[in-house]
Amino acid sequence: MAAGKGTRLKSKRPKVLHEIGGRALVLHVIAAAKTVVPADHIYCIVGHEAERVKAAVAATGVRFVLQAEQLGTGHALQMVKAYFALSGEQAPEHLLVLSGDVPLIRPETIASICEVHLQEKAAMTILTAVPDDPHGYGRVLRASADAPEVMAIVEQKSLLPEQMGAPEINSGIYCFKTKALFSKLDSLSTDNPHGEFYLTDVAAMLVADGERVVAVKADRVDEVLGANTIAEMMHLDAAMRLATAKRLMANGVTIFRPETCVIDTEVTVGADTVIEPYVQLLGATHVGSECLIRSYSVIQNSSLGDNVTVRNGCILDTAEVANGAILGPYSHLRPESRIGEGAHVGNFVETKKTTLGKGSKANHLSYLGNATIGARVNVGAGTITCNYDGVHKHQTTIGDGVFVGSDSTLVAPITLGAGAYIAAGSCITEDVPEGALALGRSRQTNKPGWVAAKKPKKDC
Ligand code: UD1
Ligand code: CA
Repeated sequence: MAAGKGTRLKSKRPKVLHEIGGRALVLHVIAAAKTVVPADHIYCIVGHEAERVKAAVAATGVRFVLQAEQLGTGHALQMVKAYFALSGEQAPEHLLVLSGDVPLIRPETIASICEVHLQEKAAMTILTAVPDDPHGYGRVLRASADAPEVMAIVEQKSLLPEQMGAPEINSGIYCFKTKALFSKLDSLSTDNPHGEFYLTDVAAMLVADGERVVAVKADRVDEVLGANTIAEMMHLDAAMRLATAKRLMANGVTIFRPETCVIDTEVTVGADTVIEPYVQLLGATHVGSECLIRSYSVIQNSSLGDNVTVRNGCILDTAEVANGAILGPYSHLRPESRIGEGAHVGNFVETKKTTLGKGSKANHLSYLGNATIGARVNVGAGTITCNYDGVHKHQTTIGDGVFVGSDSTLVAPITLGAGAYIAAGSCITEDVPEGALALGRSRQTNKPGWVAAKKPKKDC
C-alpha cells in the first residue's frame, strides 16, 4: 500500500518517497517483499502522485494497481480486488499485505508470518508488536491474553476508555486468504472518525463469520514501527543506519562512533578499513579493504580501491579512486574523476571529468577539469586548467612524466607532450612537444640600486 498522501508529514513529497537509510520507504518494503516472491507477484498500490511513485519504483519490476482516490486502506484493497476482476489475471490463493510506510520489516519476519498463516489455516494473520508507546496505532484485541485468536483491531480514535491501555499494536502487515478478504471488502463502511474504509475492520467481520483470525508478534519492535512524521522517520533512519554500521563492523570494518556516521543501505566496505567519526558514505558507494576514511569526508556514489587514504574533509561525488591513492585533506572530486593507483590529490584541489594517472600528484590548490593526465605527472601548486571559454568546455591532455611548475595556467584545448617541463608561473596557450621546456611568462629584469635611488629622503 503506497497510495497515501502522508498528511502528517506536511511535505510536498509523497510519504513513501521520503528516504531513510538513503532509500525511499517504499523501496525498502519492495526489497523485503522481493525476498519472498518474484517482482511480478508484487502489486504496488499507487494513488497520490501516482506517476512520481511509479517512476521511482519502476526499476524494481513490480506491477501497479491504481487507487485514484485514497479513501483508506480498505479501499486500497478494494482496488486490488477490482484489478483482478478486470485484468483477468488469476488472484493468488493468499495475499501478503505490506504497508509502504513500515520500512524496517525484515525478510525473516515476512517469512515467519506467512508460515504461521498457512500452519494456522487462518483467514487473516496480523503481525503485531508491543512497543513502549502504542499511541497512534490500531490495537489488536485478542480473544484472551495468550490465545493466538484475535477478536478485532480498533483504531486509536475509536478506542473505548477501557481499551486505551491495550498494549499490542497492529503493524499494518497481514496475510489473507484472498477469497476471505475479497468477500468482506464490499461490506466495509466509512462510519468511523476518519471517514475512511479501514482494512482493519475486516478482522472483526471475518471473526463474526466464524473465520480464524490470528496474531503473530514480531521478534523486534523496531521493525514494525511506522513512519508517519519526520521525527518518526528520523528515528527509523537512525536505527537503519546503525544496523548498516553493525553489518559492516561484523565484516571487519572499524567504525569509530558509528552513531555519528551517515552510511546508506547499499554501501559496501572491505575488511580492515577504518572509518573515523562524522563520515558520510552515501548512495552506491564501494570502499575497498584497508582504507582509512578520516572525519568529515562525504563520499557519494563513488568507488574506492584498497589501501586508499581519504584525509579529513574530502568531498567525492561519482568518482573512482584506485588502490593506494591518497586524497585530502579537503579535496573535491566531482563527477567522472578517476584517480589512478597511488596518485595523490591534496588540499583544495578540485577535479571534474579528469583522469589522473598512476603515481601522479596534484597536491595543492588546483582546478583540473576535462583533463587526461598521464602517469608520474607532477601538477604544481596552483595549476589551473582553463577548460571553459564561456561557451564550450575544452580538453587538456598531459603526457606521462610531465612536470607542471606551480601557478601555471593551461588554456585548453591543449596538449603537453610526455616528459615536457612547464616553467612555474606560465600561461600555456600552445601545445608543448615531448621533452620540451615551455616558458610562458615575461622575462624578469632586475634594476640594481633602484630602491635606494628612488626612495624619498625622510625629513629630519
Ligand atoms: C494503519 C492501520 C493501523 C496500524 C498502522 C500501522 C488502518 C485503518 N490502520 O494506520 O491499525 O496500526 O497502519 O502502521 O489501516 N494507504 C493507501 N491508500 C489509502 C490510505 C493509505 O495506499 O487510501 C497506504 C499509505 O500510503 C501507507 C499505508 O497505506 O503506506 C498505511 O496508511 P496510513 O494512513 O499511514 O495508516 P495508519 O493511520 O498509520
Ligand atoms: Ca502509517
